[in-house]
Amino acid sequence: MAVPHSIYRETGTVAINTVTCKNCGQCARICPTEVLRMEEGRLKVCADSSFGCIACGHCMMVCPEGSVSVTGRGLAPGDLIPLPGKEQCAKAEELEALMLSRRSVRRFSGRDIEPEALERILRMAASAPMGIPPWDVGCVVVSGRTEVRQLADAVVEGYGSLLKYMKPWLLALLRPFIGRKNYEFFGQFVIPLAKGYLQAQGEGKDALFYDAAAVLLFHHSPVAEAADAMIACTYAMLAAEAMGIGNTMIGAAAPIIQRNQGLCRRLKIPPGNKPAIALVLGYPAAVFRKAIRRRFTAVTKV
Ligand SMILES: Cc1cc2nc3c(=O)[nH]c(=O)nc-3n(C[C@H](O)[C@H](O)[C@H](O)COP(=O)(O)O)c2cc1C
Repeated sequence: MAVPHSIYRETGTVAINTVTCKNCGQCARICPTEVLRMEEGRLKVCADSSFGCIACGHCMMVCPEGSVSVTGRGLAPGDLIPLPGKEQCAKAEELEALMLSRRSVRRFSGRDIEPEALERILRMAASAPMGIPPWDVGCVVVSGRTEVRQLADAVVEGYGSLLKYMKPWLLALLRPFIGRKNYEFFGQFVIPLAKGYLQAQGEGKDALFYDAAAVLLFHHSPVAEAADAMIACTYAMLAAEAMGIGNTMIGAAAPIIQRNQGLCRRLKIPPGNKPAIALVLGYPAAVFRKAIRRRFTAVTKV
């Protein structure tokens, strides 16, 4: 039985070239679902693994002889690509410098983002880990300030509709049923946020996507973790940062888009998929002169 996926119903299929396989066992040691096992010094493909082959491809990637091939669940041996050289990989110092220099950018120059740059960001983001392979996450690419503004307007309209029935007196009435946390969340965050978006829109400004040059909207299938889309977005954010493209994650758009079936259809989000997070992109118009040291609320050592 295959781990559920919105498209792939089957498990992966592992094939071993028994002529070239040296039974070194590296694939069996790395297989996370024990589809590959060593039995009496020989590599065996086992049908009794609980999850079957999830098509992570690790076995193909470690085999020194190229004797293992995995197909199915969207994977094929042709997906193997050369490993970048160690000298090409960012060292911790470089990665830390990138992370410390990164800031959420909400002021963009008028420069468009080149289609190749968007493609590269997506390619890099797709290298992120997911709960269980393969990806069950999709991305809507909205490119161009006019298109971005149209989407922002549609979302802000959604906030307008929300404000029509989310009145403070109604919230107060509902408080015993929705609990203090939700009451405060809606009263002290959602309502002022919606009012702010509408006011800005009235003044011809885009307070949702900040007139960005592009938006990436990550969505996930009903059987995938929301975390998968968030991690993909985080990777896209770091990729954009490394390319000098300013960015900010926008959580405020997804809940409104999710409730608007027409908008989901317009954005070609597959039925049932949930928008999780957006990333606005644009060349920055602001310069940060210092980094900032941030801390987790608690780091406990046990
Ligand atoms: C999950 C998530 C959702 C966010 N949603 C929004 C948003 O809707 N609007 C916005 O302006 N910033 C949003 N942000 C950006 C944060 O506000 C930003 O990270 C914070 O201001 C800290 O600034 P820094 O990224 O420069 O460290 C979001 C960030 C995350 C991680």
